[in-house]
Amino acid sequence: MTQTSSGELAVEIGGIHLKNPVMTASGTFGYGLEFAELVDLNSLGGIVVKGLSLKPAAGNSPPRIVETASGMLNAIGLENIGIDSFIRDKLPGLGAYDTPVFVNIYAETVEKYAELASRIDTVEQIAGIEVNISCPNVRAGGVVFGVDPEAAGRVVEAVRQRTEKPVMVKLSPNVSDIAGMAQRVEEAGADAVSLINTITAMAVDINTRRPRLGNITGGLSGPAIKPVALRMVWQAACAVRIPVVGIGGIMTTEDVLEFMIAGATAVQIGTANFVNPRVSMEIIDGLARYVKENNIGNIRDIVGTLKT
Ligand SMILES: Cc1cc2nc3c(=O)[nH]c(=O)nc-3n(C[C@H](O)[C@H](O)[C@H](O)COP(=O)(O)O)c2cc1C
Repeated sequence: MTQTSSGELAVEIGGIHLKNPVMTASGTFGYGLEFAELVDLNSLGGIVVKGLSLKPAAGNSPPRIVETASGMLNAIGLENIGIDSFIRDKLPGLGAYDTPVFVNIYAETVEKYAELASRIDTVEQIAGIEVNISCPNVRAGGVVFGVDPEAAGRVVEAVRQRTEKPVMVKLSPNVSDIAGMAQRVEEAGADAVSLINTITAMAVDINTRRPRLGNITGGLSGPAIKPVALRMVWQAACAVRIPVVGIGGIMTTEDVLEFMIAGATAVQIGTANFVNPRVSMEIIDGLARYVKENNIGNIRDIVGTLKT
């Protein structure tokens, strides 16, 4: 049994009603439709599509994925078909489902983020925008928007000015002050923050003495990062009033509950989709059982209930 209509699991993110708090994470669930034969897309709380840019992008040279202990390293390089093709070719198919679609965007400049936001603003079928601020900022000499609160704030302000859609900002874990970053994007007009993106990491082949990723470094995801993600979600949730969406190494119902108790209103499932594409549905069933067994009126009641 998959929970699709009961109010017990319903939550809200930036004014968007989610049937349950479980979304799929960007880059791990394609453009959604690829999974339609395996997963009842109507059962999901939300779908966040693969990161999209203004123009199609080819991504990095291979190898782009390496397995590591309790996780994986990826350096896909944000390969994608571009926002216009997505809206024209992929989005109409998603219209058959009653599940909010969040479009994850990335760009090299503030202006391009703003342009992406304005193209999305008029598209009714898109529920909200997830702004990925963990990619290179060429204008600022290769630093990353997501590690500089002022640059992050400028991106969010520019996006905010160009769209009325709810804006969720996806934070990078590669910072020393996640609470300060969350506060800056809240001030800049974000409706929610989602965290964490992958942790910069690498692997070495001892025989060739070469990096195991074509890009040398990549992003670590999966169970290995869960404790770090949980700590950052808790710190961010203590620092802001907007909803926090927890991401990082979630594999089970218990993992989701940990994130929610630490302060997440909803979660996203990433790497686990590669192990078991139906994992989100199983987790949603597990959450439905948990609220019943524990006489919890609504799953929202456990958000931020960590006793310290
Ligand atoms: C293969 C792969 C591709 C990803 N692509 C994107 C992306 O396009 N945009 C983005 O914001 N995050 C991307 N991510 C990051 C995930 O959405 C997620 O934040 C991260 O993997 C941590 O969650 P997990 O441990 O559950 O996978 C990607 C992750 C993986 C593993």
